[in-house]
Order: sequence, then C-alpha cells, then structure tokens
Amino acid sequence: MKIIPGPASPLLSSRVARILGLKIAQTTYKQFPDGELYVKIDGIDRDGNIVVQSLNSNQDLVYLILILEALEGRDVVTVIPYMGYARQDKKFNEGEAISIRAIAKIIESYSYRVLTVNIHSDDAKSYFKNIENIDAMGVIGEYYKGEDIVMISPDEGSYERVKRASEFARCEFYCLKKKRHDAERVEIIGDFDIRKKVVIVDDIISTGGTIIEAYRALNAKEAEAACVHAVLAGNALNRLYSAGILRVISTDTIEKQVSVLSVAELIAEKLKEKR
Ligand code: R5P
Repeated sequence: MKIIPGPASPLLSSRVARILGLKIAQTTYKQFPDGELYVKIDGIDRDGNIVVQSLNSNQDLVYLILILEALEGRDVVTVIPYMGYARQDKKFNEGEAISIRAIAKIIESYSYRVLTVNIHSDDAKSYFKNIENIDAMGVIGEYYKGEDIVMISPDEGSYERVKRASEFARCEFYCLKKKRHDAERVEIIGDFDIRKKVVIVDDIISTGGTIIEAYRALNAKEAEAACVHAVLAGNALNRLYSAGILRVISTDTIEKQVSVLSVAELIAEKLKEKR
C-alpha cells in the first residue's frame, strides 16, 4: 500500500503515512499555460493505493479525478477529508444539479472504498454506496477538555455534533436557532446573556457569517470558534477577528494556518480496520 498525497492535503497525507508506516508516492502536479491541469504518479503500488485529497475548490476536484484516472482504479481507497460540494445535497429549486450526487458517482467509479470526515449531511452521504464517515468532534472536544467554557452550536443542524464535542470537553452546551437568508446572510434568533467564555463550534466555517452572528447574539464574555473544516472563504478570517472572535481553530481536513488539530489518527485507525 502507498499513500498518494493530493495537492490539497500534503501534510495530512504525510501524517497518515507516518502513523501507518506507509511510503508516499512521488507525484507531479502542474498547470498548463491555458489553465488545464496535469497529474503524474510514479511508483504506483500494485497492492493498493490510498489517495488523500480534500475538495475545497474546483481545482482540487479536477486534480482528484486525474489522480484517480492515473491509478486506473487499481485497488484504490479514496480519502476525502473535506467533502466539498456536499451542501448542495438536494434540489432546493427545480432544475438544480445535486452536486454531491455527481461527485459521488465519479469518485465511486474509481474507488472500492471512500472515507471522509464529518460530511455535511446524511443526505449528502446517502449518494455514496460505500462511504465511511469519520467523526472529528472528539478531537475538538478533547482540545477544550477541562476548560471553563460553554460550547455553542450555532444552529439546530449542528446540535448532535456539538453536543458530542461538549461531552468530550465535559463542559456546558447550548444550541442556538439560525435562519439562513442566502449564502452570505444568516440571522440568529433571540438574545442571550452568557457571562462565560464561549466556544462556538461548527462543522464548516465558510464566510464566517454564522459564527459572527452567533457571537453577536450571545453577549458572551469572550469567544473562540472551532470547526472541523476551515473553508474560510475570501477574507472570512479577518472578518471573524474584526468582529471580536479571539481565536479560530480547526482540524487539518483543510490545511490552513488555523489547522492546529489533526484528524490523521482517526483516518489511520479507520484505514487499519480493513487492511
Ligand atoms: C451550515 O449548515 C453549516 O453547518 C455551517 O453553519 C455553514 O456552512 C457555515 O457557513 P458560513 O461560515 O458561511 O456562515
């Protein structure tokens, strides 16, 4: 078995390889002058290959397809730490593409096993025939264990996840109600007065709007934000800090400066289960 590190997940790939004692394949990723992408993998293992590539951009997706094509479906396990496109998991309006269904078909046509971390919804998961969804809430919970905080779920969709994180942290837990107006505008219903430090936990931080509105509604003493997937689109991180959030942390499903936690152990454990 070899690890094939996708260009979006080099650090996580090497962490997983180290834990499992596996070699890392030599890869070449480049872009032609017209923008098209190129992939070459040297030393493909006849006994099987584990691709690790998050999908946080259209480019990440094209690279993944080309990696899978280079492997020609030879005993491929595909690990997608951050499953992009999963928020378009149904037709919200007639005529829309169910993006994650298309992605699922492509990935599964090349892989016999797919692993991901905290996929956005059960609906998104349902389009895969053979996917294992790893829960990273324990990683976030352990990080805050013993701290005198209140863990906040910004909406009911994250209730179960954040409750689990708070159980690991052994701290108080509170769930807010959110109304989404569009991709960039959300509203938190109600005013609160939580006099403690809060940690607002979500699966994804994208524009930062959800965290910022939750923080405003809470009137907390101080606030941090923690997530599994730090999408942090555009200037989201600056917006979060300017709004008064003191710290943002995430796991390494998307490799960013804020990715101080790692899901490598969880992925390695899952991979070991069926080796
Ligand atoms: C939504 O259902 C997700 O759990 C997150 O709350 C959402 O993706 C966060 O997006 P943003 O940071 O743009 O508010």
